[in-house]
Amino acid sequence: MGHYLPDRVVTNAEFEASVDTSDEWIRARTGIEQRHFAAEGQTTSDLARRAAEAALENAGLKADDIDAIVLATSTADLTFPSAATMVQHALGMTRGFAFDVQAVCAGFVYALTNANALIVSGQAERILVIGAETFSRIMDWSDRTTCVLFGDGAGALILEAQEGQGSSADRGILATDLNSDGRHRDILYVDGGVSTQSTGHLRMQGKEVFRHAVEKLAKTAETALARAGLGHDDIDWIVPHQANLRIITATAKKLNHPMDRVIVTVQDHGNTSAASIPLALSVGSAEGRIKQGDLLVTEAIGGGLAWGSVVLRW
Ligand code: ACO
Repeated sequence: MGHYLPDRVVTNAEFEASVDTSDEWIRARTGIEQRHFAAEGQTTSDLARRAAEAALENAGLKADDIDAIVLATSTADLTFPSAATMVQHALGMTRGFAFDVQAVCAGFVYALTNANALIVSGQAERILVIGAETFSRIMDWSDRTTCVLFGDGAGALILEAQEGQGSSADRGILATDLNSDGRHRDILYVDGGVSTQSTGHLRMQGKEVFRHAVEKLAKTAETALARAGLGHDDIDWIVPHQANLRIITATAKKLNHPMDRVIVTVQDHGNTSAASIPLALSVGSAEGRIKQGDLLVTEAIGGGLAWGSVVLRW
């Protein structure tokens, strides 16, 4: 694992000058205390490259040891080429293949599922799976209901093929579950894009998203656990998408899981969309909380709606 957060830390209090909000409101309603924003000119692929370099160093690998890069983002530098190929080039990687996955806040769960399928089908043996975002670029700074929620960052994980026993005691990805339902596109979206000739800003009906989130996250986690032949009691850590502490707490409660076994980073990072789960995994493992052999459940939901879950043994 590796991660990267831009240098600039923005506290809740900084928003008090520009919108009608308060540190107290943001903490109480979301659990967020601060977030990081990319510097001017710093792009998503820059953040992704820094996280990837950290992961490679931690794994004792070089860029050319990697067969593929799967990068989850909704805020790529350019319309094309993909941020993943930019990272490939920036790392000096001259073989293999790279592509982006766009499933908004569920992006990392989708990327991990894709990377696992590529390994299982024999397309690649070692894959760099990255979540990286610069959501600060799509904020409407006059909208207090959204601008205080998001942050920038990147996290990266290296998946490697290994023969297992075919049991839930194996390390690696044990089961996945992906879902989407485009009927809910209007509750969370960006009101611009290439085809509409603008960049646009993030728009959200927070209460509606909240309602879907708790119900769908608990259900997808249970589905993936059942596919792995496991139950609630087998979970060592829930590593959730970090959108809002109240969503995280309510989902853990539905899964009958204690909060002291949930990795929470939302207070420090805000919602970094596809980067939030790899950031939480990286922080949780660097702090020595997540240990080899632990059973992890990751779950995420975002625009689409798109949501899903991955059950893995660390
Ligand atoms: N500061 C002060 N007041 C605010 C702010 C703010 N930053 N934002 C909203 N309010 C006000 C509202 O205007 C409203 O005022 P009103 O009653 O005068 O109209 C009041 O606070 C209550 O607003 P609600 O939207 O009802 O507040 P709620 O308790 O639902 O919290 C929140 C809002 C935090 C957005 C919550 O709905 C939420 O977390 N939703 C989930 C959405 C989310 O996390 N999305 C991230 C992307 S999707 C994902 O990653 C899962």
